Amino acid sequence: MQVASIVGARPQFVKLAPVHAELSKMATHLIIHTGQHYDSVMSADFFQDLNIPSPIVNLGVGSGSHAEQTGRIMERLEPELLKMRPDWVVVYGDTNSTIAAALTAVKLDLRVAHVEAGLRSRNRRMPEEHNRVLTDHASDLCLAPTSNAMENLRSEGLGSQSRLVGDVMVDVLRQTASKLQIPQDYADRKISASYLATIHRQENTDNRDRLSAILTALNSLDKKVNLLAHPRLWARMGDFSLLAERFKNIAFTKPLPYLNLIESLAFAPGLVTDSGGLQKEAFLLGVPCVTLRTETEWIETVNLGWNTLAEPEPAIITAFLSSRDRPPPVESPYGVGDSARQIAHALLDHS
Ligand code: UD1
Repeated sequence: MQVASIVGARPQFVKLAPVHAELSKMATHLIIHTGQHYDSVMSADFFQDLNIPSPIVNLGVGSGSHAEQTGRIMERLEPELLKMRPDWVVVYGDTNSTIAAALTAVKLDLRVAHVEAGLRSRNRRMPEEHNRVLTDHASDLCLAPTSNAMENLRSEGLGSQSRLVGDVMVDVLRQTASKLQIPQDYADRKISASYLATIHRQENTDNRDRLSAILTALNSLDKKVNLLAHPRLWARMGDFSLLAERFKNIAFTKPLPYLNLIESLAFAPGLVTDSGGLQKEAFLLGVPCVTLRTETEWIETVNLGWNTLAEPEPAIITAFLSSRDRPPPVESPYGVGDSARQIAHALLDHS
């Protein structure tokens, strides 16, 4: 069996790592990088950190509008897939690389499997929501991380081609936490003085008032904030003349490679974010999280008391992060860390 994984953006490299480890035991697994993310802190460092082999090709599409980026990926990917004609094309998550690769593959009559299928925010203003809905409906095999995601797929008529496999991010997080010897119990960790924060979503960064309100809120929290600044955040702060020096409570630093990120998160007193993956990683590590969005695809983290959706209001953020009144994180709705193995077997079963 020959399988081609198409990836391009930071969270996809994390998901690819355990899938590659399992797939390479039973198939020829080739990796194509679209080049959506190209800075080494956003791309190459992840391959190195997570032991992922170099892609056989990098399409070098870089940045652009949604249509430019998606269109360029499709044009450049088509000849590669034509040469290769793999038994499966695997796509991950909800980025422009995901939808572009899925569309290119199905139009060449290649079978597509979608890792992290079935997530929904119901917010049609998010580019990722269109990417994930369209990718699921184009795919031959939808690999769902949670029973909520399975339910979404069923309700859209995709039940027969969907499988509940758990979340690959649990696989990679467990391996990493054990490698870093992070004490499982939060009480046994020496907690740092600063909250961790990340902000990168278009809806938070691309409107000056919203971005200013978020930075002002982080600047007024009860503890210092270590803000890992995505390139989009830097760019918009520059565009809107929101000078970093004005926010004395915030230490603006570069995005971290995966291992350092997990270590910083595990020892943080709390997380403020708009990232999808980090909400879940915080939950799995037992770190409270405030999500600066109006909805989340990872609703289990909220229902189990470890995450809350909030406006950028310092009092609300501080109250949630400093509360000790939350249930122990016993139930894992995301599987037991064998998701990549299940995905590899699902591909084999259907080949
Ligand atoms: C993309 C995904 C988002 C995911 C995120 C993870 C889409 C629609 N969005 O958002 O779902 O959560 O990746 O990080 O696909 N840039 C750099 N260097 C890089 C990459 C990007 O400077 O290596 C700059 C670009 O010039 C652009 C901005 O960052 O201005 C946004 O990059 P883009 O890939 O379009 O989207 P992300 O915000 O990273």
